[in-house]
Amino acid sequence: MSEQSAKLSFEGKTFDLPVRVGTENERVLDITALRSSSGLISLDEGYGNTGSCQSRITYIDGERGVLRYRGYPIEELVEHSTFTETAYLLIFGELPTESQLSEFRGRLTEHQFLHENMRHHFEGFPPNAPPMAILSAMINTAGCFQPDLVQPSDDEHFLETVARLMSKVRTIAAASYKTSIGQAIMYPRFDLGYGSNLLHMMFSRPNRSWEVDAEIARALDQIFILHADHEQNCSTSTVRMVASSQANLYASVAAGVCALWGPLHGGANAAVIDMLSQIHERGGRVDSFIEKVKNKEEGVRLMGFGHRVYKNFDPRAKFIKQSCKAVLDKLGVHDPLLDIAMKMEDVALNDPYFVERKLYPNVDFYSGIIMRAIGIPVNMFTVMFAIGRIPGWIANWREVRMNPQGRIYRPRQIYAGPTSRAYIPIERRGGS
Ligand code: ACO
Repeated sequence: MSEQSAKLSFEGKTFDLPVRVGTENERVLDITALRSSSGLISLDEGYGNTGSCQSRITYIDGERGVLRYRGYPIEELVEHSTFTETAYLLIFGELPTESQLSEFRGRLTEHQFLHENMRHHFEGFPPNAPPMAILSAMINTAGCFQPDLVQPSDDEHFLETVARLMSKVRTIAAASYKTSIGQAIMYPRFDLGYGSNLLHMMFSRPNRSWEVDAEIARALDQIFILHADHEQNCSTSTVRMVASSQANLYASVAAGVCALWGPLHGGANAAVIDMLSQIHERGGRVDSFIEKVKNKEEGVRLMGFGHRVYKNFDPRAKFIKQSCKAVLDKLGVHDPLLDIAMKMEDVALNDPYFVERKLYPNVDFYSGIIMRAIGIPVNMFTVMFAIGRIPGWIANWREVRMNPQGRIYRPRQIYAGPTSRAYIPIERRGGS
């Protein structure tokens, strides 16, 4: 990073603040020494202007719709790579050689089973427990079954833990689904790839094997690639925050799952389907829904639209829209929700409300329609997102833990509550 500086004048004094430049020439005001030199702190609620870290993992240019993992454009990865290979790239920094990839695949297969005792845990959840809650709880539970919790600097131990976590997450996700519908939990198979095995564990039954269609498995693999990382989003920042206290990988990732759950983040893919279904049930009146959004009635938003960083288009959404049409064609599905979604996109992209605010379809707008066509239930959509995001969370966890200058993440605040006051004994507090 080369250095320039900016000047801040306050109360007759001038402070030099270094301007750092990233490898893609983005310029950052470094305020590390702001408080110690000037007594001031910065305020940036929602962190829209705050770089929370330096990272070598993922690059986004929201104005130009660019997304790259470790320098590789998302468009190339989604076309040529697989989720397993992309995960390796994100976590270890380079594309694997053939032998590295085959070893990694072998480890994923080796670790796909859950400890038999863990299977009993699923019985403790009530019927209809949200799968995201089960996923988070069971990731921490899986951590209990690995007593030598990961040392990030030990390469062999780290690789082994990565394989365990990535592989077991898929088994946990499928088991949480089976539990929620009261069916037997299926064992994974040794002969299937990452996504195919997940579909098998979700849809096979002890007396009936689910035939995995290669094109559908590939579409799911591509969804995972597109979700694999997205720099400092809410859940990844959560993982980094937890990691900064030197919490173990399982605990940090379990926290990331909880952050992803919310409808403004990963939960949006399910919220989109709810929204489209409601519009469909009410006769498909897109215009009146858009009016409601624009009038901000009851805080209603066009789910699957808008992004904190992308202000032109979301490159993931572009690909997912194409894939959505291809998957529906392949399965011979006509989904009226797709017609409504496309109409909504068309109306919104030509409406000044959305144009002025730079609101475009994000990754969640069409992904739910693909998953619905495959037969994945809505309450599992965000779980699928979480499975895809695991490599990004792991890569970010390790980056935090391997940073020799790393400190615990601990923001400050502007206190806006009452100033100092004396304690009032209960008998003198009044009220009825
Ligand atoms: N529908 C209607 N209006 C919107 C939407 C939307 N989806 N998104 C933003 N706006 C409006 C806001 O009301 C605000 O308008 P105002 O200037 O009149 O007050 C303006 O656009 C800016 O919105 P903010 O909330 O400040 O934008 P922010 O960057 O904080 O939020 C977010 C980004 C959360 C993604 C937002 O666009 C949103 O809520 N979208 C819907 C939920 C969604 O799809 N989330 C998934 C995001 S992608 C992901 O996490 C994988």
